[in-house]
Amino acid sequence: VSAGKKPGKLVLVKDTPPLSVRIRTERLLLRPLQTGDAGRLRSVLRRNALHLAPWQPSSVPGADTLAHAADLLVRDRALWRADRQYAFFGFLDGVDLPIVRISLSGIHRGGYQGGYLGYWVDVDYLGRGFAIESVNAMLQFAFGPLHLHRVQAAVMPRNEPSVKVLKHTGFRREGLARKYLCIAGIWEDHELFARVLEDGPL
Ligand SMILES: CC(C)(COP(=O)(O)OP(=O)(O)OC[C@H]1O[C@@H](n2cnc3c(N)ncnc32)[C@H](O)[C@@H]1OP(=O)(O)O)[C@@H](O)C(=O)NCCC(=O)NCCS
Repeated sequence: VSAGKKPGKLVLVKDTPPLSVRIRTERLLLRPLQTGDAGRLRSVLRRNALHLAPWQPSSVPGADTLAHAADLLVRDRALWRADRQYAFFGFLDGVDLPIVRISLSGIHRGGYQGGYLGYWVDVDYLGRGFAIESVNAMLQFAFGPLHLHRVQAAVMPRNEPSVKVLKHTGFRREGLARKYLCIAGIWEDHELFARVLEDGPL
């Protein structure tokens, strides 16, 4: 069951989107990773480890190995099939490694019909609008084929680039969640932002 286009109306979702989904944005091809992408995932996580460490929950020991990348990939695909998380990577024509990761995780149906937005952009492609482009595509996916009613995002107030992305994509600040996520060993306050179906298109 999921939220339909009319606020308050619940409709049956017979088919959640398959792993073969591809989203074309102006400059990117967004797709879930496949089993053969483990090497790419390892490389992109390795090259972005320092860039991501201040903003994301710490990675586990051994996160740098091919086996770990392969496990992450299998997990992502299992969560997709279970309608719990949808993770896309953004590819630019002619560039082998993905330059964006964007996901909706923690998806719950029932009376909630929502999930959490997460994203990062490769360290060499920052400030060129790729996050905004990907978030806009993900919002269409969330409120379209996924039939979600709410997309939330949590951000540390000092993460100015991320706050800008949310403001450019029509999210509204809802409040401060104290000691919300453990980032680099510290329980950090996060601002909660959201878009809901009733907000309509941007
Ligand atoms: C947060 C993060 C994804 C933002 O990425 P980004 O590359 O700065 O985001 P974007 O480029 O899409 O948007 C930011 C700027 O690009 C500008 N922009 C938009 N389209 C553009 C285009 N086509 N060309 C150039 N710039 C463009 C926007 O105007 C915006 O700048 P402004 O707000 O100063 O006007 C990135 O800093 C990151 O990966 N951080 C680490 C992980 C992280 O913090 N994730 C979020 C956790 S909450």
